[in-house]
Amino acid sequence: MEALPPRGRTAEHVLAELKAVREGDLPTHGGRLFAYVYDSGLSGVDDLAMSAYALAAHVNGLDPTAFPSVHTLENSLVAAAARLLGGGPGTSTPGVVGSVTSGGTESLMLAVKAARDARPEVAAPRLVIPAGAHPAFIKAATYLGLGLDVVPVSPHTLRPSPADVAAAIGRDTVLVACSAPSYPHGVVDPVGPIAAAAAERGVRCHVDACFGGWTLPYLRRLGVDVPPFDLSVDGVTSISVDLHKYAYCPKGVSVLLYRDAAARAPQYFAYADWPGYPLVNPAITSTRSGGPIAAAWATLRHIGDDGYLALAARCLDASRAIAASVSTVGGLRLLGDLGESTVVVFTSDDPALDLYVLADELAVRGWHTQPQLPYGGLPPSIHMTVTAAVAPRVGEFATAIGSAAADAMAHGPVRLPDNVLALVEMLGRSEDAITPEVVARLAASLGLDGAAPGRMAGVNAVLAAAAPRLRERMLVEFLSLLQTPSWQ
Ligand SMILES: Cc1ncc(COP(=O)(O)O)c(C=O)c1O
Repeated sequence: MEALPPRGRTAEHVLAELKAVREGDLPTHGGRLFAYVYDSGLSGVDDLAMSAYALAAHVNGLDPTAFPSVHTLENSLVAAAARLLGGGPGTSTPGVVGSVTSGGTESLMLAVKAARDARPEVAAPRLVIPAGAHPAFIKAATYLGLGLDVVPVSPHTLRPSPADVAAAIGRDTVLVACSAPSYPHGVVDPVGPIAAAAAERGVRCHVDACFGGWTLPYLRRLGVDVPPFDLSVDGVTSISVDLHKYAYCPKGVSVLLYRDAAARAPQYFAYADWPGYPLVNPAITSTRSGGPIAAAWATLRHIGDDGYLALAARCLDASRAIAASVSTVGGLRLLGDLGESTVVVFTSDDPALDLYVLADELAVRGWHTQPQLPYGGLPPSIHMTVTAAVAPRVGEFATAIGSAAADAMAHGPVRLPDNVLALVEMLGRSEDAITPEVVARLAASLGLDGAAPGRMAGVNAVLAAAAPRLRERMLVEFLSLLQTPSWQ
């Protein structure tokens, strides 16, 4: 179905087509999806956000003089995030400033760019990150030409040791980053000692609180022992929080905060040496829709501080209940510190209970979790981001995981066909052998050639068996296959 028919269709027809296309998607609402989407479960919030989005969808943040509403709303979001994350009047960072970006990746790329450009004398700038940091940092380093120093995380604490981070800081380090919390395991890195080590060497320290930055302050108010992680920590020079995650706003909004305007200055880009309009951009994109910004602003105003506290309490109760159900299944073991965030992560110690088969069995029952691959000394795991909408469903989940685990045991671990194993082995030996045709054949033999892929255990087993570089090549080729028009 091409997007541009010879003659336009009615609005009703087009919407019906769109609904049909969406049928293969996972359910974004209802508390059964533990990744990608954040559902507050509150009625009316989404409708409000959509109305606000529509009011500002065609507004362009490109020119601050043409559409001052964008800056009014952005400054308001920045102030709210700053206050939540230890900055603003009466704090140690009264001069906090920030920018609104399109998401966590853009916030992190800008934090890296600002750090690089603040040190023009460093010819070959480097970035220090713990292994649990989000790949957006690696993307930033790759796009912006920085070297990377990745500090391992302990298989026990799932955090880096501050001494290892300090040792990784060298003459060319322009930024040290850490997570609060990390996505894979939901643990808060030792921000205090890491930021202190960075400050001692005169290096910036960015805290990636994109994932849980909107819940941690509320968890602390609920009595959870959340370690210091925000702008109140000496040495933290910038911090990011995504509003399209635990602030339950529609996709496309993150806030990047700096201690002061001088720290933010190198983030900006201006150009006035061409025959067109003089350009000044705070972020990567130039044209920026006011839609997501207005939707986020409306969501925050509507839910309010008391509403977020209540949502965090619901998330906390739900994650504790989910974790308790996981622990009752023999062979499964929780990873990470439950309570510090609202993420439940577990692995299997029983070779007969294959995590990837278990994830498929849960999916068959309507529960969508996120399989994670083995890395270094860390085992494969299942990640569950618990949002407020999960709260009313925890009883159903307890039943589901019990029966899913029983069926996964009965099914047994994934056994890849010999031809698939041979192919993976061959690809591991020679990267040149990874052609679009070979990946298409592999995808077909794993059942990935249909519109809605079914069981994914085989795919996860192939990825788990491959080395990271081979995984990346296969993923790229597979995405390229998906991103090919069908010309119908
Ligand atoms: C800790 C962390 N940082 C950054 C990102 C990237 O955010 P986005 O997907 O909005 O670009 C994520 C996404 O999951 C994350 O969990």
